[in-house]
Amino acid sequence: MNSYIAKLLIVAVLILTIVSDALTPLGVAVWVGYVFAVLLTLWEERPSAPYIVATVSTVLLPIGFMLSKPGTIELEIAIFNRVACTAYVWIMASLVVRVKNSRLDDATRRLGAIVDGSDDAIVSLKLDGKVMSWNAGAERIFGYSAKEMLGNSVERILPADDLESGAWVHPVLRGEGSIQSYDAVRISKDGRRIDVSITMSPLKDGTGRIVGVSKIMRDIGERKRAQLLLRKTLDELEKTVQERTTELSQANRLLQELSSRLMQVQEEERRQLARDLHDEVGQLLTALKIDLQNAQHHSDHQSSAGAFTDSLGLVDRLLTQVRTLALDLRPSILDDLGLVPALRWYANRQAQRNGWTLQLNVEEGIGRLLPMIEVACFRVVQEALTNVSKYAGAKTIELVLRRQADEVILIIHDDGIGFDVAAARQRAQEGGSMGLFGMQERVRLAGGLLSIVSAPGRGTSLELRFPLVDEALATSDALGKVNIP
Ligand SMILES: Nc1ncnc2c1ncn2[C@@H]1O[C@H](COP(=O)(O)OP(=O)(O)OP(=O)(O)O)[C@@H](O)[C@H]1O
Ligand SMILES: [Mg+2]
Repeated sequence: MNSYIAKLLIVAVLILTIVSDALTPLGVAVWVGYVFAVLLTLWEERPSAPYIVATVSTVLLPIGFMLSKPGTIELEIAIFNRVACTAYVWIMASLVVRVKNSRLDDATRRLGAIVDGSDDAIVSLKLDGKVMSWNAGAERIFGYSAKEMLGNSVERILPADDLESGAWVHPVLRGEGSIQSYDAVRISKDGRRIDVSITMSPLKDGTGRIVGVSKIMRDIGERKRAQLLLRKTLDELEKTVQERTTELSQANRLLQELSSRLMQVQEEERRQLARDLHDEVGQLLTALKIDLQNAQHHSDHQSSAGAFTDSLGLVDRLLTQVRTLALDLRPSILDDLGLVPALRWYANRQAQRNGWTLQLNVEEGIGRLLPMIEVACFRVVQEALTNVSKYAGAKTIELVLRRQADEVILIIHDDGIGFDVAAARQRAQEGGSMGLFGMQERVRLAGGLLSIVSAPGRGTSLELRFPLVDEALATSDALGKVNIP
């Protein structure tokens, strides 16, 4: 039965009893209805209800006595019965109150167990901020025992800046605002700042008046730290992705430039080859043809012998010319004999052409390397020595090739004018040149690293390093199969 129905029933029973009492003769025990009315307060919420009904009954009992018609029983007995009924009513009221209290005690005990067992801090405060209850969770989170806090102000766990920001609490307590959950910082007994999430609700007395506030405070330090870590990791990830994207698009652009530059170089080489074939080989063949025609038309032996001697000289020059062309295009010495003889041959030739003093420091027993590495080394030396002849104005060139621990190292050093490497790289990135970038790419694709050390007036050093894992040492099989660019 709910409290509202109980209230209606009590009023109905009281009215029915007094009306019946007035209408029936004295001696009819209708007044026992008052005991029943008190019993009904078991279902009424208000704690004082049994005593209120008992008081009303005590007033109604003599009224009923006076209104009743004379009855069949003695007046003294009728009076005794009503006095006894008054006593029953009050005994019943006190019994009902006891039952209600014991029910309340059970509920309070259960709630107390829940509050005590909670990991959260659950506290109740009076309106002036004095602590009324302080559970085990609050002791653990803030370090203050219940004994230290009960009756004292809760302000000792508030940081100075929170006293102001908590001003919204007061309208809530006056019932002018809604109950709120919010994150805040509290100070523990040992001075640590603790991040908590607070849920607050008003505490009301039996009449519905707000007499205090209950607060549930959850320690969210771990969550906050995890959130911070997550945010930091996400930021770093985003930064890395951005960096990688920029690097990728830069590499992409450079690759495009490299491939267009490659085509240009190819065209240039073809033009050069065509010019050489036309100007050199073509001229020599024409001269040879004329000599042979002369020999054919001269009948005397001496003239034709002279023409043949000229022709042989021309054939020699032709042979040298064709060999030089072939070597410039593709030094077969690199495929056939390996990097060391190829470098020796190429460096000597360039030194002769440019008038450099050459210091060759090449380890003979280095053996054959993977074709990719041999070709990368050779092409880098080609580009580096071309640069030296174009820009450096060097007198001495030093070429070092050695094996050190698990690496093959190649160093090309000139004592020329040097240059600003960072600025040259910047120019190369903007598409100004491709040599340095091409060298870098070749070395990288062959699994190595290229470093360039130079400064204006201090000469230039290029250092190539290739890790010497098993595969980097070529087998004759691998040499045969790889198509060298
Ligand atoms: N050994 C060197 N001594 C002095 N300056 C050099 C040397 N090597 C390179 N440089 C400078 O670095 C710049 C870049 O060289 P890189 O080989 O990339 O371009 P390039 O030779 O001008 O053009 P490309 O090689 O594309 O035909 C050159 O323009 C030159 O100024
Ligand atoms: Mg160059």
